Amino acid sequence: MPIPSLQQEFQVSFSYPVHFTEGLFAPGNRLLRDTLAPAAGGAPSRVFFTLDSGVAEQHPQLIHQIEAYCTAHADALQLSGPVLLIPGGEQCKNQPELVQQVLEAVNTYHLDRHAYLAAIGGGAVLDMVGYAASVAHRGVRHVRIPTTVLSQNDSGIGVKNSVNAFGKKNFLGNFAPPFAVLNDFQFLLTLDERDWRAGMAEAVKVSLLKDAPFFHFIRDHASALAARDMAAMQHLIHRCAELHLQHIASGDAFEQGSSRPLDFGHWSAHKLEQLSYYRLRHGEAVAIGIALDSVYSHLAGLLPAAALAEIIDVLRALGFALYAPEMAAHLADATHPASLLHGLQEFREHLGGQLTIMLLKGVGQGLEVHEISEQLIAEAVQYLQEAETLVASPTH
Ligand SMILES: NC(=O)c1ccc[n+]([C@@H]2O[C@H](COP(=O)([O-])OP(=O)(O)OC[C@H]3O[C@@H](n4cnc5c(N)ncnc54)[C@H](O)[C@@H]3O)[C@@H](O)[C@H]2O)c1
Ligand SMILES: [Zn+2]
Repeated sequence: MPIPSLQQEFQVSFSYPVHFTEGLFAPGNRLLRDTLAPAAGGAPSRVFFTLDSGVAEQHPQLIHQIEAYCTAHADALQLSGPVLLIPGGEQCKNQPELVQQVLEAVNTYHLDRHAYLAAIGGGAVLDMVGYAASVAHRGVRHVRIPTTVLSQNDSGIGVKNSVNAFGKKNFLGNFAPPFAVLNDFQFLLTLDERDWRAGMAEAVKVSLLKDAPFFHFIRDHASALAARDMAAMQHLIHRCAELHLQHIASGDAFEQGSSRPLDFGHWSAHKLEQLSYYRLRHGEAVAIGIALDSVYSHLAGLLPAAALAEIIDVLRALGFALYAPEMAAHLADATHPASLLHGLQEFREHLGGQLTIMLLKGVGQGLEVHEISEQLIAEAVQYLQEAETLVASPTH
């Protein structure tokens, strides 16, 4: 008698809020308290904060404010240990000892699965701390407090955590939804020009794939956005976050298929970040990647010239450069690790399965393809290089 196979099947549903506020740590702002407060009659919730050093520099009072906030709300919140500073920026994802340091804090301060490990910072710090939170005790509650445009509208609101390894971006990581996301717009006031701008590339991306009116909003407010108009930025962040959340909920949240539709422009962006040794911010590389795949879509006969021109104009009006010298290096040899084209192979490998690249056939209309012409990529790179030269010296 054969022994029958067993089939296991169950579903786990996830739910978490993404809140928007200003002055999260002002003593009178109850959002943090209400988000973390224990059930009626329970002991105060234990919370440990990690903080991006770049944020700490710009907000020297912040650690004191966090402590004062927890003291003012001592019936609901208890600080488990001193705020831990994490070096801000991509480098924090390249240093395994920093993951170890967060894990040590979980151990030292006895954070269990009902305690909160909060991270305040840009996308890099959130990715790294989120990764540590998800592996400690197989997952302590992770609260994200994103402080850049990119992390408030994209990276900090989703389900992915990661660090870099073997010279590859996000090689180690997992899908672990946060407990809650708290977006405080006041943090955006201290961003430098590049970080104010960079995250807007993700909004352009998602608008091009899913929401033409949103793209038109960005087009119509491009100069205000570039000039740091806060009301326009708040709308951009809110709508971009909403579209990302809807996308995650409606499809393949844990990316089990071969396609990653929201990664329009990202195969080259990830490669360019790596090739530029992270000189390019993620969002800056995404802007170039959007331009490249839009030009490619046009050259491949999918995207009308007028739509391409509009996309390029909007990216420029937001202040993005649309070419980087790394794009042209070793372009004839897709097997060369420093060739942009090698990024196609790495992108496929990261997901597994068949190569799947999102292109555009119109504003608000994506189209997935499984084959990419290296020749057309080379032409698209040349197109952007020439266009950038014209922008740099308009009289010629
Ligand atoms: N998990 C995901 O789904 C996902 C998605 C997209 C991107 N990402 C990742 O996000 C990272 C990029 O995040 P990012 O664009 O936020 O940049 P970042 O985290 O690298 O931060 C950029 C710089 O801004 C500083 N900073 C942060 N907040 C500040 C503030 N309020 N005022 C002044 N300075 C501040 C940081 O210290 C850092 O020096 C990349 O590692 C990327 O891979 C993750
Ligand atoms: Zn991105």
